[in-house]
Amino acid sequence: MKKQLLYKNSAKYYDLIYSFKDYREEALKVKKLIGRFKKSSRNELLEVACGTGKHLEHLKKEFKCVGVDINDGMLKMARQRLKNIDFRQADMINMELGKQFDIITCLFSSIGYVKTYENLQRTLKNFARHLRRGGVVIIEPWFTKKTYKVGAPHMTTYDAPDIKIARLNVSSADGNLSVMDMHYLVAEKGKGVIHFSDRHELGMFEIDRTLELMKQEGLDSKYFKNGLMKERGLLIGVKQ
Ligand SMILES: C[S@@+](CC[C@H](N)C(=O)[O-])C[C@H]1O[C@@H](n2cnc3c(N)ncnc32)[C@H](O)[C@@H]1O
Repeated sequence: MKKQLLYKNSAKYYDLIYSFKDYREEALKVKKLIGRFKKSSRNELLEVACGTGKHLEHLKKEFKCVGVDINDGMLKMARQRLKNIDFRQADMINMELGKQFDIITCLFSSIGYVKTYENLQRTLKNFARHLRRGGVVIIEPWFTKKTYKVGAPHMTTYDAPDIKIARLNVSSADGNLSVMDMHYLVAEKGKGVIHFSDRHELGMFEIDRTLELMKQEGLDSKYFKNGLMKERGLLIGVKQ
């Protein structure tokens, strides 16, 4: 496995930075969609780019879950959170898990990290290959060139008695790639203030072209505007 620099410094602060996100509520919506679209009879779920396992925490009761992520720092936190789930380190573009699932989820725009349409096609082929007939794939896409705002400043903060975090960036783009240099300032009790930055590059994939690629892989696919997070929507495909 190639050494991953992405989230290298920030993995341990990830859950604090995203403490505003309601993973329980999002998992509930995902469960409803699975109930609506899945036609296969079993309940095995693969969460791709599972991060620290916060969605799986609310899915593990109903489904037999496996989590995959490329980043060992994120997986370390996921394994600490959920002792009985099988977590594997793999790249979604070429992962080979040697089995099929009834549900594949890839949430919080993680699909964007594959960066190019060529990789997107390989990834979707891989998702379809890992899905049983009648199984459902749920993908939360990243912004498109139309919805991504180049030049916009962003700030996310976390404020607790023993730790304060500020993460700032100004969105930029390079062709189809959105580029975010996230600058972190972390003040921790007894430790002083540290600064580091993380570069995030995500492909801005058009929804229609993504749907077309999903269909090419035998997935009967639709885009739903009202998804989990504002302005992102959800792509849902059922393997024919
Ligand atoms: C925005 S985080 C989302 C994590 C989690 N799904 C959540 O909702 O909190 C993106 C995740 O994608 C993972 N990732 C990025 N590129 C990947 C790849 N090629 N294969 C697998 N995971 C990847 C990162 O390590 C990170 O955990």
